[in-house]
Amino acid sequence: MTPRVFSGIQPSGDLHIGNYLGAVQNWVAIQRQYASVFCIVDYHAITVPYEPADLRTRTREMAISLLAAGIDPEVATLFVQSAVPEHTELAWIFNTITPLGELERQTQFKEKAQRQESVSAGLLNYPVLQAADILLYRAEVVPVGEDQVQHLELSREVARRWNARFAPPDAPFFQEPQPLLTPTRRIMGLDGQAKMSKSLGNTVGLLEPPDDVWAKLRPAVTDPKRIRRTDPGTPEVCNIYHLHRAFNPEQTVEHVAVQCRAAGWGCLDCKRVLFEGMERTLVPIRERAAEIRASPGRIEEVLRGGAAAARAIARETLRSVKHMMGLDAGLLS
Ligand code: AMP
Ligand code: TRP
Repeated sequence: MTPRVFSGIQPSGDLHIGNYLGAVQNWVAIQRQYASVFCIVDYHAITVPYEPADLRTRTREMAISLLAAGIDPEVATLFVQSAVPEHTELAWIFNTITPLGELERQTQFKEKAQRQESVSAGLLNYPVLQAADILLYRAEVVPVGEDQVQHLELSREVARRWNARFAPPDAPFFQEPQPLLTPTRRIMGLDGQAKMSKSLGNTVGLLEPPDDVWAKLRPAVTDPKRIRRTDPGTPEVCNIYHLHRAFNPEQTVEHVAVQCRAAGWGCLDCKRVLFEGMERTLVPIRERAAEIRASPGRIEEVLRGGAAAARAIARETLRSVKHMMGLDAGLLS
């Protein structure tokens, strides 16, 4: 059987270049190699305060962005998490075998909890739902950015723990899923201060108009030691240089480094060349998004088909799981 890949993204804002370079680029690259399942995880997004109308719009917009970025619904399954109720059902089951201490130790939980006035149990259990997402499809490979590595470690522990408790010792039921990282696994925001993140407002959206992209790029933080135009720079410490590596060919990147070290270019010259490189990637994505928007009912059709395909797999897994756990006396659902 072709090994399965699963990944998810929250519809909590626009798809940004950090998501693209850290994860979605890999989804597109490997979608034909694996049996691919990609999910817009709205149940994860509601673990922090949100507006229902925004969530609905953002979920749709995320679907448009993912298709525009190159997800092909002819080969990959794309769906919205809340359309497949087995996700939450398996999450409940996994909650019962997950030690509280492990959840409290998760870095993302600690960071997000700090930013909330009141912390919900859902925020704590977020990684358990994530384990359910992945294991429901018995996926082996999970293309994500670096910030998800700890969550995947927890998913592997959930798989191990469930197998040890409920599966025969010689026939583990769940595989232990492995992260698949890109060379650009952690993209910093244009402020150069923190990871590019929907919740920090330091992003460049994949579908933002070129003028807006340039307006963000122009004042973006560079090498902090390069104060005057004539100061030589250190490319390795500059966030803009790292973006060059993501968007421009090797030769251009080398040229950029030479110009920076020799103070041949000012930071603005360097940003112009980056902008050109970004546009080469972004123009076709924007064009595809416009095409998708122009075809009414397209998104609904893709998501409906995706949910049906996902659900067929999910139901089968859950049936086996419930059976092995003695949860079949009510004769299953
Ligand atoms: P999220 O937007 O948190 O749902 O993340 C969706 C995917 O993008 C996950 O695989 C993340 O690891 C990845 N990701 C998010 N932000 C970044 C970033 N700044 N750099 C690299 N990958 C990221
Ligand atoms: N927690 C992930 C993020 O914020 C999103 C996610 C939910 C996910 N379920 C998943 C990623 C399953 C990979 C696999 O990026």
